[in-house]
Amino acid sequence: MSAPTPDAQDTVRVLFVCLGNICRSPLAAAVFRQHVIEMGLEDRIEIDSCGTGPWHVGHPADPRTRDEARRRGVDLDRHRGRQFKPEDLATFDHIFVMDRDNLADVLALDADDSYGYKVRLLRELDDTPEDYAVPDPYYGGADGFARVHDIVERATRRLAERIAEHHGLR
Ligand code: 4NP
Repeated sequence: MSAPTPDAQDTVRVLFVCLGNICRSPLAAAVFRQHVIEMGLEDRIEIDSCGTGPWHVGHPADPRTRDEARRRGVDLDRHRGRQFKPEDLATFDHIFVMDRDNLADVLALDADDSYGYKVRLLRELDDTPEDYAVPDPYYGGADGFARVHDIVERATRRLAERIAEHHGLR
C-alpha cells in the first residue's frame, strides 16, 4: 500500500467503486467483509461501496449478482446503491476501483489532485490480474457473474491480508 500508515488504533475505511453499484462493487464489499470478519477485524475496518453513475441510486444489487453470491454464502440483500461523491476521496483511506473507466471517473473528481495515492485497481491484488480489470458483467450471461465472483474472492482475500499487515491490525 502506498497510503500513509495511520495510527494502529484508527478505523481503516475502505471503499469499492464500480459503474452502477449493483454488480461488482457491492459484491467486492460483501466478500471483503466476510474476510474481515473471519480475521476478527470487523471493528477496525469500515467498508462501503458506490458507483460512479447515478442510475441505480437506492436500488438493490442486480439479481444475477445476488443469486451467484447466495450460492456461495454471501448475502447482498441489504445493499442499496449510492453514487460516488467527491467527499469520499477524503473520507476513505483506500478506494478500490474495478476498471480503468472507474479510475478515470474517480480521479476526475479529485479537483486538487490530492488523493490519487488512495485510488487503485482492485485487480492489482489478484494473483492472475490479466488486464487488471474486474470485467463488467452487466450486459453478459451468468458465466460472467461467476467469473466476477471468482476474481473478487481472490483479490479481496489478498486485500484483507495486506490491509491488516499495512495498518498493524494483527
Ligand atoms: P456494475 O455493473 O458497475 O458492476 O454495478 C453495471 C451495472 C449497471 C450498469 C452498468 C454496469 N448500467 O449501465 O446501468
